[in-house]
Amino acid sequence: MNSTTVTTTYLHLPTQADFRPAFSTQPDLLVLQAREPLPAFARFLYDAVGHQYYWIDRHTWPDDVWRDYLALPTITLLVLYLRGTPAGYIELNAASADAQMQGTEIAYFGLIPAFHGRGLGKHLLSVGVQSAFDAGATRVWLHTCTLDGPYALANYQARGFIPYRTTHHVQVRPVSSGL
Ligand SMILES: CC(C)(COP(=O)(O)OP(=O)(O)OC[C@H]1O[C@@H](n2cnc3c(N)ncnc32)[C@H](O)[C@@H]1OP(=O)(O)O)[C@@H](O)C(=O)NCCC(=O)NCCS
Repeated sequence: MNSTTVTTTYLHLPTQADFRPAFSTQPDLLVLQAREPLPAFARFLYDAVGHQYYWIDRHTWPDDVWRDYLALPTITLLVLYLRGTPAGYIELNAASADAQMQGTEIAYFGLIPAFHGRGLGKHLLSVGVQSAFDAGATRVWLHTCTLDGPYALANYQARGFIPYRTTHHVQVRPVSSGL
């Protein structure tokens, strides 16, 4: 085992007026809400997007835990498809509150590595945030950490997200993780 200091940044759009969307006009691009998400599909997205960024919290979730979580009316799973292929997802949690304020949380968001760097991340983030505001969110927030992708923070800030809190902790991780 080794350890690393992880910095977590909390960001938010305190109002919809702060949101700077950037929608893509690329053809063959579709974002669909998974209205009956199967645990296996949700697990595939989680691993395909996050396996190289130390997304491990849900590896212990059996199917029934996934099923119960995904069935919550406050959870929205939006999947990005490029030419019919799942390319990434954004998971919204309308019930989530941070220590200070209510709001809809972007619980998970990202692209499968093969789709990075093509302007799809800003599109999916824009669609997800717009969907949260359309559903009545007064504020959208998230946290990202230094284990996430190198452009995660920049992507949020480019869409208007404002950092409002930073924390640090030491995380132990397996040497074999390759991170
Ligand atoms: C973060 C992520 C979604 C960005 O998606 P992407 O399709 O590669 O990025 P895009 O081409 O749409 O660019 C979106 C923004 O990211 C930043 N960005 C992307 N590539 C960049 C690069 N090479 N250099 C600098 N900034 C870059 C820019 O701010 C850009 O916005 P702008 O063009 O309006 O300035 C993607 O890299 C990803 O999924 N990473 C892994 C998972 C992850 O970290 N998720 C976030 C967890 S909280």
